Amino acid sequence: FILLFLFNKAMTQNYDESKVPDYTLPEVLKTESGNVVNNKSAWEKVRRPELLTLFAENIYGQMPKDFDSIRFTITNEVADAMDGRAQLKQVTISVWRMGKSVDIHLVLFTPNNRKKPVPAFLLINNREDSTMDATRKIKSEFWPAEMVIDSGYAIAAFQVADAAPDDKDTYQNGVLQLYPKQLQADNGMKAIGAWAWAASRVMDYFEKDKAIDAKKVALVGHSRGGKTALWAGANDRRFAIVISNCSGNSGAALSRRKFGETIKLINNQFPHWFNDNYKKFNDKEDALPVDQHELLALIAPRPLYVTSASEDLWADPKGMYLSLWNAQPAYGLYGKHAALPTEMPAVNSPIIHSVLGYHEREGIHDLTKYDWNNFIQFANYQYYGK
Ligand code: GCU
Repeated sequence: FILLFLFNKAMTQNYDESKVPDYTLPEVLKTESGNVVNNKSAWEKVRRPELLTLFAENIYGQMPKDFDSIRFTITNEVADAMDGRAQLKQVTISVWRMGKSVDIHLVLFTPNNRKKPVPAFLLINNREDSTMDATRKIKSEFWPAEMVIDSGYAIAAFQVADAAPDDKDTYQNGVLQLYPKQLQADNGMKAIGAWAWAASRVMDYFEKDKAIDAKKVALVGHSRGGKTALWAGANDRRFAIVISNCSGNSGAALSRRKFGETIKLINNQFPHWFNDNYKKFNDKEDALPVDQHELLALIAPRPLYVTSASEDLWADPKGMYLSLWNAQPAYGLYGKHAALPTEMPAVNSPIIHSVLGYHEREGIHDLTKYDWNNFIQFANYQYYGK
C-alpha cells in the first residue's frame, strides 16, 4: 500500500530538480506571428494586448469591464481607531448590472498623522474574516494593520468570498451573477477573475477617497490571492505596485517546469478558479502559448515583488524566481533595469532596491510580518527612493 502511495505521488508531483524536463519558454518580446518587439510602443500596441488576451482566453477568463452603476456606502467610521493612530472606515461597494448587484465590504485604516493623501496597501483576503478584524481585537500577521499604519501607509482588505465563494459549487454566487454569459463560455471568468474584478472596484473607491493617494496603491495577495493579484495587476494598470506572495502554480511559477503543483493538479482540485479552456492544458504545459513569466511582464513598468518560502516546494520557489528573471525584457523596454542575479538569492536575502523585487523566506507557505516588512521597504524604495 505504501509503495503504491509513493508511486502515485511520484506520478503526480515532482520535487526533484534533476527531473525538471527540458523546456523552451515562449519569448516575452516576440509576437504570435513571430515579430520581434524592441520598443515600448510595439509592446503596448501589439504584444501586451496580445498576451493579455492569451491569458484571458487560455487561463483566467475574460475580464468584463461594463456595469450599470457603483455606489460606496460608509457603514462605519471611527476617527480614533488604534489608540488614535488611525481612522477606520468600513465601506460597502455595491455594483449593479442588469438588475443584479454584488457587495464588496472594504475595511480601511488610514494613518491620522497624514498631511496629504497617503499611499495604501490593499490585501485580497483569502483567509477567514477575522484576519481583517476592524475592531483589532484579533490581530493577524496575515494583515498586520498596526505595523503598516505605523509605517505611514493606509491599509485595506476585502474578503474574496464577497466576490466569489471559494467553492466549486457556489463560486457563481457573487460577481458572476452580474455576468451570467461568463458561465457559459469556455473562456468565461471564474473565481480568480471575479476576485481580481473586485480588486478593481476597490480601486474605483480609492479614486474617490481624498485621504488615499490612488496613484500609489500596492495590491497584495497570498497564494490563490497572489495569483489573483498578478491577474488584477496585469488588467488594471491603476495598481502602482503588485506584490504576489507564495503564489505558486498559475501564479508566479513557471508551468513548464512541472515542479510541485502542476496545471492538471490545480485544475482537478480547483476547477472553479480558471476558465474551462485551461483544462485542455492538463499535462500539456508545452502547448500553452504563454508561460507565467509573461504574466509578470504585463505588470511592467510598474514595480513587482514576488516571494516564496523555503518549505513551500509545492509552489516551486525556483520556478517563481526564474519567472521573475524572465520578465525582465519587458521592463528593459521602459529603461527599467532590474539586474536580478542569475543565481537565485539565498534564503532571507531580499532584493528590495530594484523594480523587480524578490525574497525567499525561511519557513512554510504563509504571509507573515517578515513578508510585510519587506513589502513596506519595497514601497518606500519605489515611492521615496529610500
Ligand atoms: C493550494 C493550491 C495552491 C494555492 C494554495 C493556497 O495549495 O494547490 O495553488 O496557492 O492552495 O491558496 O493557499
